[in-house]
Amino acid sequence: MPSIIDGSSPIGIFDSGIGGLTVVRELLLNLAGESLIYLGDTARVPYGTKSSRTVVRYSLSNAGFLVPKGIKLLVAACNTASAFAIPALRNECGLPVVGVIEPGAKKAASATKTGRVGVIGTSSTIKSGAYKKAVQEIDPEITVYSTPCPLFVPLADEGLNNNDIARLAAQRYLAPLKGSGIDVLILGCTHYPLLKSIIQEAIGEKVLLVDSAQETAAEIKGVLEKNDLANNGSAKPTTEFYLTDVSDTFIEVAERFLGREIEHIEQVDIGNNYG
Ligand code: DGL
Repeated sequence: MPSIIDGSSPIGIFDSGIGGLTVVRELLLNLAGESLIYLGDTARVPYGTKSSRTVVRYSLSNAGFLVPKGIKLLVAACNTASAFAIPALRNECGLPVVGVIEPGAKKAASATKTGRVGVIGTSSTIKSGAYKKAVQEIDPEITVYSTPCPLFVPLADEGLNNNDIARLAAQRYLAPLKGSGIDVLILGCTHYPLLKSIIQEAIGEKVLLVDSAQETAAEIKGVLEKNDLANNGSAKPTTEFYLTDVSDTFIEVAERFLGREIEHIEQVDIGNNYG
């Protein structure tokens, strides 16, 4: 295990699969000086239909792969992992841990004028009530309306972001939120930023969409500065990608999520270091 952790150390990011690359994309745009190590647990995806216990166990084993690589900060880029595993990760890892829920909730709570916020996510994230809790911890007066949109994940994976099937699914899923008076909708899943335009169309132009990936990048910047861990050195930043399973279609889908080419991906077996 690398012994010295300082500003030049990489940021570790994990997700249940490739959706967390939407967070990596924001980090590459906004924190271009930082080195990144990404782990996608593609062998065990999806997390969004699994129980809390299993998601915590998987999240700890992902951390157990990344922490020994000498990372300075751990990012749970997966909303479902963030909903269940942040306390366990903070207990076990001994480093700053950032999830995607608090940043999204903060932005939504500050942006709403009607005091009504919508949240969409995987079935497990919505069932956990984590976004509702995070928003109401900031402002207990805000009413939160939540609904799961499970089909959005396979639609984004298949590249069906902007067609009639996705449009129909968005209309059906978002119908219960339409009459609720929400003026902000949190995209509480790694995949949903790819469906932004059909979600906006279905919920209406007046509703502000909060992209948790964008808010998380801003949060990470703040945490690095606060802990004096920003990379101020001159070494060229690097990005490494690891997956627990590499399928034939993976590279194409991953590049869609990342918005650019990926040169090298390594397949890894991860143990249960913490899990
Ligand atoms: N990464 C998951 C999330 O943000 C979506 C995919 C899955 O279900 O694992 O909740």
